[in-house]
Amino acid sequence: MPREYAIAVIPGDGIGDEVIREGRKVLDALASIFGFKLKYTDYPWGADHYLKTSVTMPDSAIDEYRQQRAVYLGAIGDPRIEVGLIERAVIAGLRFKLDLYVNLRPIKLYDARFCPIKEKKPEDVDLVVVRENTEDAYTGIGGTFKQGTPDEIAIATMLYTRKGCERAIRYGFELAKKRKRRKLTLIDKANAVRPQDIWTRTFAEVAKEYPEVETDHAYIDAACMWLVKNPESFDVCVTPNIFGDIFTDLGAMVQGGLGIAASGNLHPGRTSMFEPIHGSAPKYRGKNAANPLAAINAAGMMLDYLGEAKAAAVCEQAIAGLLTSGRIQSLGAGVLKTSEIGDMVTAEVQKLAK
Ligand code: IPM
Ligand code: MN
Repeated sequence: MPREYAIAVIPGDGIGDEVIREGRKVLDALASIFGFKLKYTDYPWGADHYLKTSVTMPDSAIDEYRQQRAVYLGAIGDPRIEVGLIERAVIAGLRFKLDLYVNLRPIKLYDARFCPIKEKKPEDVDLVVVRENTEDAYTGIGGTFKQGTPDEIAIATMLYTRKGCERAIRYGFELAKKRKRRKLTLIDKANAVRPQDIWTRTFAEVAKEYPEVETDHAYIDAACMWLVKNPESFDVCVTPNIFGDIFTDLGAMVQGGLGIAASGNLHPGRTSMFEPIHGSAPKYRGKNAANPLAAINAAGMMLDYLGEAKAAAVCEQAIAGLLTSGRIQSLGAGVLKTSEIGDMVTAEVQKLAK
């Protein structure tokens, strides 16, 4: 029996469809080379479906995902819909309901010419951010009172639990332990936001179990400065949800742009979700112009998670080879056709497999 993995696919809005199509092209090539099967089930969630049915993503879908190994998501967001409504229902819905407590976001420069920072080379930009993914200002606890009046009050809550920060921190240490540099940096803002001290204290306690891992600490403002000034100072970073969100967009630019940045939303041992970091870029929808490399990269992360480490490595090598070859001018949209880039990666994969 060949190894078979059930995958839920949510192409979503905007360019989601097009980038997922290329991701699947590469996945299918890898599956046939490495002798495993991917059983896809497509789900229609997104703006078009919502406008037709008033349904964002039903809970029954979450039950179905639990029976599958992974969710592969394109992009969510559409200007026709109330700001953030579908993003919260689908992206945050998946993260919360499947309890995907780690958002793993590698920041890796594949070729020096893509880095906007002068004289930085691939060996200077190779870090992984472990973003806590189920708490912080994202829980929706809070609200507004007397909206639209001069007395309006708005409350958003930065919520951290011991369990929530400990499991993210522990994941960070386990990951750092397996990497060459074995360094973990905690990024918080516990000087100004004192309750974030729960992160500082938990980090110090868990660190005792990992004497082999070098530890470091930076406040989020300084971490942003260091990421631009000395990206080489980072190996693995762990940080609360909202800082992780912001820090990894900055990271995406340092590695060349949102066209390459991928992420895995993980609950180790359970159904996990893989997506590019970029959004739906509505203006490029249907134009065959979006760069699918981030979605392809996310597909590679998914294979790694499924245990297909060799296929995942070939996927990354194919992307890296293509980017160092000079055949792709930039990681932005419109440089080559979406489908052309997908074909190029597929061809690289096939070459590497020979
Ligand atoms: C991301 C996105 C989401 C987030 C939005 C779309 C809710 O920016 O995955 O980084 O803030 O987490
Ligand atoms: Mn973001």
